[in-house]
Amino acid sequence: MKNINPTTTSAWKILEEHYKNLKDFDLKDSFNKNPTRAENFTIIDDDFYVDMSKNLLTRATKDALTQLARECELEAAISSYYSSECINFTEDREVLHTALRTPLEKATGSVKPYVKDALASKKLMFEYVDKIVDGTLTTHSGEAFDTVVSIGIGGSDLGPTMVYQALEAYHNHIKVHYISNVDGDHVYESLKKINPATTLFVIVSKSFTTQETLTNSTTIRKWFVDKFSEEAVGKHFIAVSSNIDKAVEFGVEKENIFPMFDWVGGRFSLWSTVGISVALGIGTSNFQSLLDGAHEMDEHFRHTPLDNNIPVQLALLTTWYNNFFDAQSEAIIPYTQYLQKLPSYLQQAMMESNGKGVDRNGELVDYQTGNIIWGEPGTNSQHAFFQLFHQGTKLIPIYFIAFAKAKHNLPEHHQKLMANFFAQTEALMNGKSAEEVQADLDKSNMSTEEKKKLKPFKVFQGNRPSTTLLIDELTPRSLGKLIAMFEHKIFVEGVIWNIYSYDQWGVQLGKVLADRILDDLKTKRFNEHDASTTALLKRFDSKLM
Ligand code: F6P
Repeated sequence: MKNINPTTTSAWKILEEHYKNLKDFDLKDSFNKNPTRAENFTIIDDDFYVDMSKNLLTRATKDALTQLARECELEAAISSYYSSECINFTEDREVLHTALRTPLEKATGSVKPYVKDALASKKLMFEYVDKIVDGTLTTHSGEAFDTVVSIGIGGSDLGPTMVYQALEAYHNHIKVHYISNVDGDHVYESLKKINPATTLFVIVSKSFTTQETLTNSTTIRKWFVDKFSEEAVGKHFIAVSSNIDKAVEFGVEKENIFPMFDWVGGRFSLWSTVGISVALGIGTSNFQSLLDGAHEMDEHFRHTPLDNNIPVQLALLTTWYNNFFDAQSEAIIPYTQYLQKLPSYLQQAMMESNGKGVDRNGELVDYQTGNIIWGEPGTNSQHAFFQLFHQGTKLIPIYFIAFAKAKHNLPEHHQKLMANFFAQTEALMNGKSAEEVQADLDKSNMSTEEKKKLKPFKVFQGNRPSTTLLIDELTPRSLGKLIAMFEHKIFVEGVIWNIYSYDQWGVQLGKVLADRILDDLKTKRFNEHDASTTALLKRFDSKLM
């Protein structure tokens, strides 16, 4: 992939100038002036309706941003992304999560062997899952399994947890629990809820060295053996890992270890054997639909021209706000409780990928890269932090995501939910002028003095940007498509910002220091740290007595 500093492109200069000219841009007014604005900035791809028109942009902005993508050679980069090139340069690895959902007949060139490997591992996983779900494979005492506990963290947890919860309407009789945190509260409280006699434990760790996962797995294994026997472990513990030796050493039988590939990064791995807990909880045909949906978005991203390409245009919009408006964050607001965990899943996907301050030359960047991702479902979040969206001082571009058809038969609820969904984007854009506030106040019995006092607090400036994603229905297929959309958005941002999106060196330092402090705590060696840390360690130690 090319190494292009975006700030040296002519598009960047155009955008800088354009930004200055757009300072007084009035969103509401632009709709009044341009009757085709909504359709000009909306991309429809089958069941996905992506409306970007309520953003602070004009046709000229879109053109300049698309030119920026071209000058950063995005089209060539997309070809590299779909090839077996080692675009994860700092770890010398290919980035081929897309191969995990590619049907064999669509696999081309150097990617074909990867697709074949992915299909072979999926076959093994599906055979195993089907046997657990239909009760052919049983517990050590011959019972059917009814519970799964998936033990993993980060990319080995967030994707499966989010998808399992998102597809609650598709759950079968097997209940899945997720344990991630090394905090004993998590494992302690989770184990209270399960019956070990009918539980399958899945240890998910690409490296099989992650402190949290190994600590939790060891605790659970001991708890299990205390109740049953060492011999029973083989039937109840399986692993997903690329470190087969370590998994065997832990006590998992070799035939119960599902391999992970080096060419799939943790945070992009839910499509692989890492998703086994999801497949167990929703069945293999639903899991296949999830993959198919992701593949549909892969095809859209790969073949659609840049100016009509959903992930490309979303990423460019992020660049626009991040690099020219200096917006620090982006909020993700799904209007469905099913997608409760989508914001935290995307936090890892986006922030671990693009939270980088060094460019592809190894030089510190002098422009902004990855932004802060956060959010909560609507309407709950409306009653929590929307005040800041409407009247705060920060510019926060917001993604509103909703599904036209509900999964339940409570039409009144859905209509109210959707009314809120539409109302918020409109309110953010339109605001409420001083004149409108005055007119409202004039209808009340307040004194002139009281009205004057209250008026400024009731004014909404409006002109606050949002992007609306209206999807036909939440299904395994549309969920796969949605997740893949964000994955590709991440890729495009990385290309524009000229950073490596597929490593995560930033999480290593804390891990190493935690190991050192663990030793210090065990040996009571507190004085080898800074004064603050030493005092904290001593205080902690004194409270343990
Ligand atoms: O937190 C960093 C990280 O390396 C993630 O990228 C990864 O998903 C997670 O740790 C878990 O790693 P593993 O699957 O090797 O246990």
